[in-house]
Amino acid sequence: MKTYYFDNSATSSPKPEAVYSSVGIAVREYSANPGRAGHRKALEVARKIYEVREKIANFFGVRNSLNVAFTANATESLNFAIKGAIPEGAHVVTTNFEHNSVLRPLYYMRDEKDIKLTFINTYLDLEKAITPETKAVVMNHISNVNGTIQKIKEVGDICKKNGILFILDASQSAGYIDINMERDNIDILCLTGHKSLFGIQGIGVIALREGIKIEPILEGGTGSFSKLQRQPKEMPEMLEAGTLNTPGIISLGAGVDFIQEIGIENIKKHEDGLVLKFLEGLEQLEKVKVYKSFTENQAPVISINMDGVDSGDLSSILDEEFGILVRPGYHCAPLAHEAIGTYETGTVRFSFGFFNTEDEVDYLLQTLKNIALQI
Ligand code: ALA
Repeated sequence: MKTYYFDNSATSSPKPEAVYSSVGIAVREYSANPGRAGHRKALEVARKIYEVREKIANFFGVRNSLNVAFTANATESLNFAIKGAIPEGAHVVTTNFEHNSVLRPLYYMRDEKDIKLTFINTYLDLEKAITPETKAVVMNHISNVNGTIQKIKEVGDICKKNGILFILDASQSAGYIDINMERDNIDILCLTGHKSLFGIQGIGVIALREGIKIEPILEGGTGSFSKLQRQPKEMPEMLEAGTLNTPGIISLGAGVDFIQEIGIENIKKHEDGLVLKFLEGLEQLEKVKVYKSFTENQAPVISINMDGVDSGDLSSILDEEFGILVRPGYHCAPLAHEAIGTYETGTVRFSFGFFNTEDEVDYLLQTLKNIALQI
């Protein structure tokens, strides 16, 4: 059966052809362990990784590429940031739209390190939530449930003005909206490579603004300072314990090249067009409740429920009978479901990517209409 993939918030699929071939090349030709020996093959890989590090630094406005570290995923980056940079006892502002990759480390910090949490819905409530004890703001750029876009430049400016650490989870936005750490005053940027950046799964990034203090929470071999008992303090080794995911890093480089070729504004424009069309179509459908962004800006991620149909059942019908692939349930973001009023039911989520087309959205709308007529 032909399939229609609307689960790009989980991972982008398909990937650009150049990403597929880059992985083959990486596994075959860049197979030595970088930074672990001085032989030519190890040096070649190290050079390749340096190239991607530079590319990522340029793409996200990180002044010094040594402040870019490769991790396994956004979850690891966020654990590094939240557990390594937020001081014990601090007051922290976060949002109800966070994923468990932010919430669970924050709850750990609340229970074990006595931090206090304040939850807001959007950046518009940030200033009111700040107290003299506020030491950090941890926030996602885009909600993976309803596509709420937070204005990160405004958040960064408020944090800078108040001397507060700003940790951004850009998992859903990197590769879709232009992000610049310097311009947007982001102190720690955490992201995954396998969504809108088109890398493969298993590659993440943490980038630090110059001067940001962070304690490593993962220790191990770095290929440098081997006699040192404790983790080196030098970036990026400090946050890169263990063998790096060379194929993941190289795929990420190929993904960023693809985005730069197309132009991030063109990617955004295309995806925004799809989500607008979807929203306009949904308005015509009775029996469908739509959950949109809480701010004026909508990312290409929409949740819905259909009267009388369980979200899991609707997603199974879409998959089994129509080849439409979506994600139902809670999307690892329980508080977001409280905020939108779907804590008991969950939702069916549609997330669009660059390779989706208007025809696919027409098919999706027609299918939802047919299902709604039958219930
Ligand atoms: N965080 C991913 C999602 O939203 C996996 O589906």
